[in-house]
Amino acid sequence: MKNVVVLVSGNGSNLQAIIDRCHGKDGINIAAVMANKESAYGLTRAKEAGIDAVVVPSKGITDRSEYDDKLMTAIDGYQPDLIVLAGFMRILTPAFVQHYHGKMINIHPSLLPKYTGLNTHQRAIDAGDKEHGTSVHFVTEELDGGPVILQAQVPIFDGDDADAVVERVQEQEHNIYPLVVEWFCQDRLSMTEGKALLDKQILGESGYAAE
Ligand code: GAR
Repeated sequence: MKNVVVLVSGNGSNLQAIIDRCHGKDGINIAAVMANKESAYGLTRAKEAGIDAVVVPSKGITDRSEYDDKLMTAIDGYQPDLIVLAGFMRILTPAFVQHYHGKMINIHPSLLPKYTGLNTHQRAIDAGDKEHGTSVHFVTEELDGGPVILQAQVPIFDGDDADAVVERVQEQEHNIYPLVVEWFCQDRLSMTEGKALLDKQILGESGYAAE
């Protein structure tokens, strides 16, 4: 049995996709969903699926280390094999990232290494890109900089606004994130010396590429 803890800050549509596809299947147990604010709708999704929903409030805590220590204590109570960041909108301290080295993954709405940070969809539109997408990657100390595991591309059409692109990207996120969770829980995926490996093969800059 693999215990997974998912961290969310908002809607939790990626969490929902992971619950639907992975929870209770093939030895995958989503042990808890945690959020830094009570209003995160992902907590409701967890409760509806019978999963522990835990708030570790960040409001009023200005010291990042203090908050991350609290979060770590809460997470470790579930003895997790994998930490999944699913729209968790906080910058993590190096100590937190090191604590979960090789067992924490994130989904970021861009074709990394392009557009780290925020407002990725609008930035891609403004740059005149014809293509955008999403990346699942291992978390390292570099913001949105860890090795990519899997990407999905979507087109940007003339006249698209950011909402249209967000919708297209999220549809792909809901396909690729549960797949990566499955790979990890099947012991097929690891990170060694800053590289992502699937079935012992080092993955390239864009992650796994189907032939
Ligand atoms: C997702 O689109 C994810 O790529 C993005 O937040 C959204 C969360 O949606 N993550 C980031 O921007 C992280 N830098 P969800 O709450 O509906 O899953």
